[in-house]
Amino acid sequence: MRRIGFIGAGKVGRALGMFFAKNGRTISGYYSRSNHSAQNAAACIGATYYEDLKDIANCSDVLFLTVPDRSIRDVWDQLVSLQDQGQVLLKDKILIHCSGSLSSEVFSNLKERGAFGFSLHPILAVSDPKTAVEQFPTCIFTLEGEDSPEMAPVRQELLSDFRAMGLKVAEISKEKKIRYHASCVMASNLVNALLAASQEMLSGCGLEEELCEKALSPLFLGNANAAAIRGPIDSLTGPIQRGDLVTVQRHMEELSKDERDHQLLLIYQSLSEYLQHHKGVNGNER
Ligand SMILES: NC(=O)c1ccc[n+]([C@@H]2O[C@H](COP(=O)([O-])OP(=O)(O)OC[C@H]3O[C@@H](n4cnc5c(N)ncnc54)[C@H](OP(=O)(O)O)[C@@H]3O)[C@@H](O)[C@H]2O)c1
Repeated sequence: MRRIGFIGAGKVGRALGMFFAKNGRTISGYYSRSNHSAQNAAACIGATYYEDLKDIANCSDVLFLTVPDRSIRDVWDQLVSLQDQGQVLLKDKILIHCSGSLSSEVFSNLKERGAFGFSLHPILAVSDPKTAVEQFPTCIFTLEGEDSPEMAPVRQELLSDFRAMGLKVAEISKEKKIRYHASCVMASNLVNALLAASQEMLSGCGLEEELCEKALSPLFLGNANAAAIRGPIDSLTGPIQRGDLVTVQRHMEELSKDERDHQLLLIYQSLSEYLQHHKGVNGNER
């Protein structure tokens, strides 16, 4: 059984380590920027922690680089440099990072090193590792790696093993990763922007500030739930779904009165146009 090591003992590294350990996989341990993080993560699953990058590399067959995106290349470069100094052997090792936007190409000159590189991304916001362990089987992961004959058996082995643990894993090409990640950002982070914009507008209506934050929650949560279950167009309510375009026009006139609302107007207009177009395209005019 391949030994799995984690470089980066943060949210995703800890969650994956716990998940793999729970499913009986062999965890070689954790290395992180701070020994404290590595020690804590390792203690959670009774694994080892390493104070030296070369030690975790030498004790692992699969290395997860669960560091921030900006540090993935840097850690890879350090591993390459350790190999050049004869301290680490990268040949036949599997390197996996978890960035949604970067591809496995970040592991430059991988073939020369005889290693295999992939990106594995959970379409999930991971803030608490223990919660994520429970959520992993309910979300979709994407696996990306170079499409070559040498990589095919390793990719198949990874896919089979992840699926045997109950994970739903789809394959994605490196060319599509940026578009894919932009889509994930739109369904998560940008929704936060919409809620913030909507709270800002409500706060200009004379309601108490505390009330403004609470008032929109049932609307927001109920709508998100319905959209996730029935689809964003089929669950649509409101003036655009009803064809009350005069109301939509009046909203925009209100947001055109003050230059400070310009950004809100652009958001409102752009999303309304998108909905109007897609409502028609999907044949859901009611
Ligand atoms: N969180 C999410 O919702 C989520 C979802 C999908 C994918 N991802 C991806 O998962 C990866 C990790 O994200 P995360 O949210 O788990 O980040 P995180 O919680 O910030 O954890 C990153 C960990 O890496 C350690 N680290 C930073 N630089 C390092 C270096 N040069 N060498 C060794 N360790 C280093 C950190 O240091 P310390 O030792 O100081 O703690 C920290 O423990 C990223 O590629 C991210 O895009 C995240």
